Amino acid sequence: MERASELYTRVSGREIVKEIVPDTESAGKSPVLETPRLLLREMDVGDLDFIASLLADPEVMRFFPKTYSREEAAAWVRRQQERYARDGYGYWLALEKATGAPVGQAGLIALEVDGAPELGIGYIIGGSYWRRGLATEAAAACRDHAFARLGKARVITLIRPENAPSLGVAAKLDMRPEKRTMFAGFEHLVLVATRQGV
Ligand SMILES: CC(C)(COP(=O)(O)OP(=O)(O)OC[C@H]1O[C@@H](n2cnc3c(N)ncnc32)[C@H](O)[C@@H]1OP(=O)(O)O)[C@@H](O)C(=O)NCCC(=O)NCCS
Repeated sequence: MERASELYTRVSGREIVKEIVPDTESAGKSPVLETPRLLLREMDVGDLDFIASLLADPEVMRFFPKTYSREEAAAWVRRQQERYARDGYGYWLALEKATGAPVGQAGLIALEVDGAPELGIGYIIGGSYWRRGLATEAAAACRDHAFARLGKARVITLIRPENAPSLGVAAKLDMRPEKRTMFAGFEHLVLVATRQGV
C-alpha cells in the first residue's frame, strides 16, 4: 500500500503542523493530522472499548451533563462517522505516536450557536495523560487544519466557565472570550480564534 502523501503547512507563524492527505484506499485508518506527539485519525467501532471507557469516566466527564453507557458510546462513535461523511471532520481519535496508545479524542464539530453556524474545536483526554500539553497540541492542530485546509476564518470553543483545564487550553491557543451563551442546557463561554489577516 502506498504511503499517504504529506503536506507541511506553516500556519500563522505559530507552529508547523503536518497535514496528511489520505490515499483513497487507506482512508479511514490513515491519520488525518499529525502533531509532534500525536496522530489523529477517524474512529470506528474497533475503538469502542477505549471510547466507552473514556466517556464512562466521571472525572473526565465532570463538565458534561452525564457519563455515557457503552451503548451511548457506540452511538457517539456512529455520530462521528456520520460527521466524517457529511462534513469531512468530527471528533478524531488521538493516538500517542510513541506507543500507539489511544489517549483521547479531539476534532472539529459543526455547531449552531445562538442561531448561527460555527465551527467548534473539541477535546477530551484520558486522565492518565493530563497535564502534558497533549490537548493543547491536538487543539492547535485542529485550529490550524480549519484555517489552512478548510479555509475557515474563525473557530470557536464552547467551555463551561468552571472548566478551568479547558479554559487553560483555550488560553494557550490565544483564544479570546467573546460572549456567554446557553448550550446543551448549561451556560458556556464562547472563545474565538480567527485566522491571521482576516
Ligand atoms: C481539558 C483537557 C482536555 C485538558 O487536557 P490536557 O492535555 O491535560 O491539557 P494541557 O496539558 O494541554 O493543558 C494546557 C493548560 O491548561 C491548564 N490546565 C490543564 N489542566 C488543568 C487543571 N487540572 N487545572 C488547572 N489548569 C489546568 C494549564 O494552564 C495547562 O498548561 P500548563 O500545564 O502549562 O500549566 C482535560 O482536562 C480533559 O479531558 N478534561 C475533561 C474533558 C473536557 O472537559 N473537555 C473540554 C470540554 S470544553
